[in-house]
Amino acid sequence: MSHLNTGATRVSAPRIEHHTRPLGIGEPAPRLSWRVETPEPGWRQRAYQIEAIGLWTSEIIESAESVLVTWPGPALASRDRADVRVRVWARGADEPTAWSEPTTVEAGLLAPGDWDAVFVGSADISEGDRRPILLRRDFPVRGEVRAARVYATACGVYELELNGARAGDDVLAPGWTSYHHRLHYQTYDVTDLLRTGENTITGWLADGWWRGEFGWNRIGERYGADTALLAQLEIEYADGTVDRIVTDESWTWSTGPILSTSIYDGEHHDARVEAGAGSPVQRKKGPEGELIAPAGPPVRRVEELPPVSVERVDAGTHLIDFGQNLSGRLRITVSGPAGTQIGMRHAEVLEGGRLCLRPIRTAQAHDVYVLAGTGEPETWEPRFTYHGFRYAEITGWPGDLDPDAVVAVVTHDDMTEIGQFECSDPLLQRLHENVRWSMRDNFVSVPTDCPQRDERLGWTGDLQVFAPTAAFLYDVAGTIGDWLADVAAETPDDGLVPLYVPHIPTSFPQFHCAVWGDVTTTVPLVLLERSGDNRPVEAGYETARRWVDGCRRLLNDHDVIDRGLQLGDWLDPAAPSDAPAQARTDPYLVATAYLAYSARLLARQAALVGKDDDAAHYADLSDRVTAGFRREFVTASGRCVSDTQTAYALAIRFGLLPADLTAHAGDRLAQLVREADFRIGTGFAGTPLVLDALTDTGHLEEAYRLLLSRECPSWLYPVTMGATTIWERWDSMLPDGSINPGNMTSFNHYALGAVADWMHRVIAGLAPAAPGYRSLLVRPRPGGGLSSASASHLTPYGRATVAWRRDGGTLAVDVTVPPGCDATVDLPGSPPVTVGSGQHRFGVSHPAPEDDPLQPLPPRERF
Ligand code: BGC
Repeated sequence: MSHLNTGATRVSAPRIEHHTRPLGIGEPAPRLSWRVETPEPGWRQRAYQIEAIGLWTSEIIESAESVLVTWPGPALASRDRADVRVRVWARGADEPTAWSEPTTVEAGLLAPGDWDAVFVGSADISEGDRRPILLRRDFPVRGEVRAARVYATACGVYELELNGARAGDDVLAPGWTSYHHRLHYQTYDVTDLLRTGENTITGWLADGWWRGEFGWNRIGERYGADTALLAQLEIEYADGTVDRIVTDESWTWSTGPILSTSIYDGEHHDARVEAGAGSPVQRKKGPEGELIAPAGPPVRRVEELPPVSVERVDAGTHLIDFGQNLSGRLRITVSGPAGTQIGMRHAEVLEGGRLCLRPIRTAQAHDVYVLAGTGEPETWEPRFTYHGFRYAEITGWPGDLDPDAVVAVVTHDDMTEIGQFECSDPLLQRLHENVRWSMRDNFVSVPTDCPQRDERLGWTGDLQVFAPTAAFLYDVAGTIGDWLADVAAETPDDGLVPLYVPHIPTSFPQFHCAVWGDVTTTVPLVLLERSGDNRPVEAGYETARRWVDGCRRLLNDHDVIDRGLQLGDWLDPAAPSDAPAQARTDPYLVATAYLAYSARLLARQAALVGKDDDAAHYADLSDRVTAGFRREFVTASGRCVSDTQTAYALAIRFGLLPADLTAHAGDRLAQLVREADFRIGTGFAGTPLVLDALTDTGHLEEAYRLLLSRECPSWLYPVTMGATTIWERWDSMLPDGSINPGNMTSFNHYALGAVADWMHRVIAGLAPAAPGYRSLLVRPRPGGGLSSASASHLTPYGRATVAWRRDGGTLAVDVTVPPGCDATVDLPGSPPVTVGSGQHRFGVSHPAPEDDPLQPLPPRERF
C-alpha cells in the first residue's frame, strides 16, 4: 500500500509548544506538534521523524503521537536557532510524507548568567514623581549585520525603539505576572532596524502594574518605588563577531512628551515637549522574581473599529459610538494649532445620552493629547493604557470631527481563534458573539474580570467557570498555563489560593473560597482535555493538593464545610444589588459540593501523575464529602435543602447523588425552572452547570427554554437590550434602560458567558472525549426551534466540525473528524456509532418542532 501518503497527505509546519512566534522561547527542549491534512479516510499515523535542518535528524519514531511530542534532539542552548521539520508515515504505508515546511525556533536567554544588562532607571527624580521616562543610548554598528536581537523587560511597562522605529509590536510589555516570583522578558528581532554607523536605542518606561496605582484601593508602588528597564541588544555581524549593547550606567534618561500615564486613568501626552538632553541613569535593584520567557502571545493591537456614529453633544464635545464594547484605546489624526488640548473619555454605556462613568468607579479612563501644531496631521494613540468602552467623548477637537479621524484600536492578547459556533437564531448568535468579545476584552496579559473599572484583576473564579469556553474559542493553553504558574507561585502551603492572581492586597480578605480556589483542580484538566497538554496537571498537582487539603480542614465532624467566608453562588439574580453574595443557595452547600468534586478531580490528577496512594486517598475524601453532602443537604427522596436551580445543578453535575435521586433532582430542577417562567436563577456557581444538569436528566426542552428566555434575568435579556458583551450582572442594565445602582456593575465580564460551552457541546454537538479531542463526542441535541447549528474547532489534530440542519422531518448532520482521531456519533433516536477520520454525513428522522410531541409545555403551576 505504498501508494498511500506519497502526495496528497501533507504535514503542517510543526508547532513549538504553544507559541505562535517561537522566537526567544524559554523551553530548551520544546515539545512539538503537527497536523496532517489528508484525503484518506480513517487515516492514522504509524511513525514520525523530526529534523533540525543541518543539525540533526531523529530516528524514525514508531508512534501515533503528534501532539506535544518530546523534542528528540539535543537541548537548545541560549540563542540557539533551528529550522525544524517533520514527516510522518501512515499506518500501512512504507513511504513517508514529504517533509513539512520548517518552523524556525530560537531559544531566548535561558540562564541568569546570559544577562550582561542590569536594570537601570532615572536618578535624582523627586519622590513620588511618576512621570514616564525615556532611556537612551547611542551606539555604532560596525559593518554588515547577520542578525540582531533585543532581550528586554522592565519593572514597569516599556516600549523599545531603534532609530525611532518600534522593536516588535507588543503592547504593555512585559505584561503582568506575579513579579515577586516571575517576570516575563521579550525577545525582538531587530535585524532590519539597524544601519551601519551611528544608531540609537530608546526605551519608553512607565509605571504599569509595577508602580501604578492598582486595585480599587488604588495603592501605588505595589512592587517597587522605582521603574527600571533591562535591555540587551546583541548584534551578530556577518564576520561572526558580536557586539552587545546592554542597559548599564552608560545610558541616559530624561522625561519626554508623556506627562502621565496610568492603566486605569489614561495617558496625557503633550506633543510640544521634546525629550530632554538626558542625564546618567542609575542602576536599580531588579525584581525578586525569575526572568522567564512567556508561554503565550503578548498583548497587541488586534483590530481597528471605525465609529458607527459621531454626534456633537455640546459646543465642545463629540460623542462617538463604536457599536461594540471593547478593550483598547483610540487613535486620532488631527491638525490644529500648537497647544490645542484634546480630551478623550471612555465608557461602556450611556445614561441620558452622555457617558455613564459611575460603573468605572475611580478609573478616569481619560486620555489627553496636546498638539504640537506642526501644520501636518498628527496621529496619536496612547502607549501605556487601555480602556473598556463602546463610547467615547472627545472634547476640544479643532473644527468638525471627521469620523475617519478616529478609530478604536482593539487591544488584547493576540490569541489564535480556533473555535466557531453558528446557529439559526440571531439572538443566540449574538449572545455567542458577545461571549467571544468578552473573552477578547478580558484576556489582557492576565485573564481579567473586566477591562474598564478600577479592578481588571485575574479573579480565579471567573476563569474557573469560563475556562472550557475559553479553550474552545481561542488557543489559550500557553496563556492559561503561564497564569497557572503564577497561581502556583502565589499559593502558600496552607492552600489559600488567592482570589485573584497576580495577588495584590486590597480590602478583600483571603479565605478558602469555593468556586474560586477550585481553579487549581478544574482548569489543568480542562487544558488537558482541550489541548492535550498534560503539563499543567503535572506542574499544578501540588497546588491543587494544597487547595483540597486546605478545604478539607474546614470540614466538620459530619464531613460538611460549615464555617469560614464564602462567596457562594455570587451574583444570584435575586441577591440585592449591594450584596452580591446573598444568594438563595446556602454557601456551605456550594463549598461542600465543590470539595467533593475537586477531591475527585484531584484523585484523577494523582493517577495521571503516578501518585496512586494520593489517588486512593482523595477518592476516599470525595466519597466521604459526597456522603456528608447528602446527609446535610439532600432529603431522603432527593430534594435539596436549598431548593434552588444552583443546588440541583451542583448536585447533578458533580455526581453527588445516586441515580434515582439524580432523576428526582432533575425533575425538581426542571420544575423550578418552569416556576421561574424560564428565568435564570443562578449566579457564578450554578450558571455554568444548570443547562447540563437539565440535559443530563432528560429536560432538554427546559434547558432550551431557559437559554432562549428574553425576560430579565436571562442570557438573552442583555442581547435584547443591545448588549455587545456579556454583563457582570444579569441586570447590569435594568429593563427601563437605567444602570444597576450596585457599585459593581460591569458590562464586560465573561463568567456568565460560560454557557457557550453548552452551546458548543449540546446545541452543535462537538465535545472532546479524549485529551486534545483525539476522540470526539458528536452528540447534537437540537431543540429550541433552531433549524440549524454548527461548531468548528481547530483541534491539535486538525479541524473538527459538526453541522446539522433540519430538512423536513430529517436531521442532516455533517461531521468532520480530524486525521488520527475518531468520533462517537450519537444522534437523537439512533444508536451511537464510531467513525474514523474524514467527512461523514448522517441523516436521522427527527420531528420538526411543530410536530414535536414534547410541545407545548404544560401551564406553569403556582403555589
Ligand atoms: C469581580 C469578580 C469577582 C468578584 C469576587 C468582583 O469585583 O469583578 O468578577 O469574581 O469580585 O468577589
